[in-house]
Amino acid sequence: MKDAFVTGGCGFIGSHLIDRLLADGCSVSNVDSLATGVKEYVAHHDGNKSLKNHYFDLKDLAKVEGAMAGCDTVFHFAANADIRRGLDDTFRDLERNVITTYNVLESMRKHDVKDIVFASSAAVYGDQKTFPTPEDAPKTQTSFYGASKLSCEAFIEAFCEAYGMRSWMFRFVSVVGERHPHGVTYDFVKKLLANPRELEIFGDGRQRKSFLHVQDCVDGFMHAHKHAKGKVNVFNIGNVDTITVSRVADIIVEEMGLKGVRFNYTGGDRGWIGDAPVVHLSIQRLRVLGWEPKIGVEEGIRRTARWLLANKWIYDKRR
Ligand SMILES: NC(=O)c1ccc[n+]([C@@H]2O[C@H](COP(=O)([O-])OP(=O)(O)OC[C@H]3O[C@@H](n4cnc5c(N)ncnc54)[C@H](O)[C@@H]3O)[C@@H](O)[C@H]2O)c1
Repeated sequence: MKDAFVTGGCGFIGSHLIDRLLADGCSVSNVDSLATGVKEYVAHHDGNKSLKNHYFDLKDLAKVEGAMAGCDTVFHFAANADIRRGLDDTFRDLERNVITTYNVLESMRKHDVKDIVFASSAAVYGDQKTFPTPEDAPKTQTSFYGASKLSCEAFIEAFCEAYGMRSWMFRFVSVVGERHPHGVTYDFVKKLLANPRELEIFGDGRQRKSFLHVQDCVDGFMHAHKHAKGKVNVFNIGNVDTITVSRVADIIVEEMGLKGVRFNYTGGDRGWIGDAPVVHLSIQRLRVLGWEPKIGVEEGIRRTARWLLANKWIYDKRR
């Protein structure tokens, strides 16, 4: 791999991926519409000739084809990553996730690019009964986002079969860490900055989730890309343990140095339609290849809260 084509490189995980690819000596073409991403996440590479940023929407197939010329490996990370907003607009996940993935695959076919690394999600499992959940668990779709990611996986698999491509698809649990721009930790810090006396928590707070630090996440998928040799390689990426949403709130209150915060629960065993009360994935398949997460769930949450508190500008940018 010498010339990487990255989508979503101005986003949270994509920007860490770009740091890693440049450090490894690759050239990177990054496509980002700035729908949720920010230029600041890659600004420390300004002037580096190995990084080319293209600001357009992946909905434009001709532009995707143009930007992909000369690349040998695709890292497709751009997506609507906000599960809840799918309920407001049922076309959103189909257009932003499935159509855009088709455009990336079609451009690969035209340029004869063979390798794609894809950011899928634990959301493809929907409501589960088996924990930790293995990759081959039966899947019941409970969100448009999860359905769109599973559709993307299916399209990628079909392109691999038809055109001799290879794929590495990763079902992430919630990823946290520096530059974290959405999700429960982000929401709690935001709410507590606005009102340090009380915190609204969606659900009953007993939802149990796994969180993975972004460095472990990038290490995990780069490791698998290097070592897994199949045509279609599907992996869970998560942490060994889980934490309740109430405990996440406790940690953030501690990190902010607050006392006596009242937690107001909206009630029910899930935060919203499509939320899973438990997310805990089996990471055995990736461990067999020699990868292990290094940063624990609680430490990941703490580092995220510290970064958000030191970088409050992100709340204005992502408003
Ligand atoms: N962060 C998590 O906890 C998590 C968990 C599971 C899966 N994922 C997946 O990982 C990937 C990255 O997530 P993230 O947390 O970095 O999200 P993010 O919102 O920070 O990054 C997504 C990036 O894609 C860009 N983008 C979105 N639609 C685009 C389009 N049509 N054309 C061009 N650019 C577009 C955005 O501007 C943004 O920079 C996503 O595919 C997401 O679904 C993330």
